[in-house]
This record gives sequence, C-alpha cells and structure tokens, in this order.
Amino acid sequence: MRLPLSLVFATLVGCRITDGQNKDDTGRIVDTGWCSNIGTYWTEATYTVGAAEYAAALGEDDTLSAAACEQLCRDNHWDAFLIQQIDVCRDDGPDADGDQLIYCHWEEEELCEGRAHAAVARTRRGTGPDPVAAWLARAARAEAGSARAFSVMAVELARFGAPSDLRARCAEAARDEVAHARRMGALCASRGGVVEPLVDHALPDRSLFDFALENAVEGCVFETWAALAAWHQARHAADPELRQAMAVIAGDETRHAELARDLDRWLRNRLEPADHARLDAAVADAFARLEARLQRPLPEPARLTLGLPSPDDAVRLLAGLRAALL
Ligand SMILES: [Fe+2]
Ligand SMILES: [Fe+2]
Repeated sequence: MRLPLSLVFATLVGCRITDGQNKDDTGRIVDTGWCSNIGTYWTEATYTVGAAEYAAALGEDDTLSAAACEQLCRDNHWDAFLIQQIDVCRDDGPDADGDQLIYCHWEEEELCEGRAHAAVARTRRGTGPDPVAAWLARAARAEAGSARAFSVMAVELARFGAPSDLRARCAEAARDEVAHARRMGALCASRGGVVEPLVDHALPDRSLFDFALENAVEGCVFETWAALAAWHQARHAADPELRQAMAVIAGDETRHAELARDLDRWLRNRLEPADHARLDAAVADAFARLEARLQRPLPEPARLTLGLPSPDDAVRLLAGLRAALL
C-alpha cells in the first residue's frame, strides 16, 4: 500500500497532521519544513590506492605531485563533486600489501540541497558571515536550481509524451521553488549572506531512462529526504524566523516528493524490466550514500539554529523513510 508522504513524514518526525498541515493546540501551523541543506565540514581519510593506479599518477621523475595527489583523493572519494577544497594531501607510503596509502584532508559539502538536474550547474558554495548565513545562501541557490530543474522537466516530459497532469505539476513545482528561492534569498540577505547566481547548461536531449534515473535519485531519494529533514527542521529549528519560513515551504516540498513518486511510476511503465533493476540499484546506492553522509554532523550551534537532525536521529529517520518507501 502506498502511504501519503505527509503521513510518513509526520509519523517519523512525531508530528500531528490536521488538514495536511501540523498545528499546535491553538491551531497555529508549527510543523512543516523546507529543502534541506546541511553545509560544509572538514573531514579526512586515508585511501588505499592500488599499485597500478599509484604508478599511473606518478610523474616522469617518479614522484607524486601535489596535483596528482589531490586527484587521487578525488578519484577515490565516493562523489568528488562534493569536495570543496583539499588542504592536505600526503603520500604515506606502501602498506603491507604493497598498496599505497594516500592521506587526504578536505572540506566537503553536504548534499540534499534541492533537486539537481542535468541542466543546472551544480555549484553549491554559499557565502556569509556565519554558518547559518552561508547555509541560507546555499539554500537560496539550491531553491533557484530546483526551479530551473522543474521548468526543464516540464519541457522534457512534453517531449516524452507525458500526461498534461504531470507536466502541469512540474510547472507548479517550478513556481513553488521560485517563491522558496525568494524567501531564502531574503533571509540570507538579512543575515549578510551572498547567493551565488545560477549557471544553466543547455537543455539536455536525453533518453527516457536517463530522465528516470535522475528522477529516481534526485526526486525519490534526495528531495524526499530533504522534505523529511525539513519537517524535522520546522519542528526543531531554534530560530523562529526559520520555522516560519519552513511552514510556508514544507507542504510544497512534500508535494514535490509525491510528484517524484508519480513520475517514477509513469516512467517505469515505459521502461524494460532490466531498466527497473538499474533504477532500483541506483536508488539503493543513493540511500547508502545518504546514510554514510548522515554520520557527519554540522557543528552544534548551527545545527540547532537550523533544526537539523543529529546523526542518530537522521539515521533513524532515513531508516523509517526507506522502510516506508521500498
Ligand atoms: Fe524548494
Ligand atoms: Fe522542491
């Protein structure tokens, strides 16, 4: 049985729902959310690089240059796109098996910042005088990117011969995201943050499967997680202005997640069973990547201000979401 996501989210976050929205005892809306964006953090790892890969990275003088070392870090990271900068890269020599140990220390961007799309450059930097302002800058940029994503999706769906209802819902979602971007942009500006402008790519002429793959990962996993995290933020954000903004946005994000599910169903009906298996694998991989990232928290003051779940809570929420969806 397919449960409405609003019910799933409310159950997981512990909210009550009245007429599709959560209200306190006075009827005031208190439990809604927005697209999640968690920020950046510094992290480190020592990668075990195979002898052949290491040899290929060496220069003509058989030494590992700084650039080549950083490239090994990026090549071994699960999603190098998220690496913002690398400040330490070190060759720690071979291990007992003859593989090479490469130590890396880097600044990494959290994911779940809105719906990514092939037509939108994935720049996620945010600038502000403090982590919350920077977070808002990235959130506003992500909302603008989501608006572009849904606009292009509506065009692509027309090319695929999709029903007018699905196209209209994408167009409506794009309008939602424009409003979100404006709201986040205003909050960002009030705190001194700077929102990076969008950089668009050309409209992709891609296959139905590629469209379905993006929707499965970006819509059914990441944007759906973002919607659930948003419910948590709306309930727990220490900043009342943020909670108020989330109250406006959360319901929209839940509809977007439902749209992703409906798109997924329509698309799968037009794909082969082997394609379904590839989509399922991509979804499982996306959930695994998400779970790995949720182990790394934002620093406490910013996390509490923004109402983001702790690592333990996030893993619990994700497990519940996955159980409800799969
Ligand atoms: Fe949004
Ligand atoms: Fe959205």
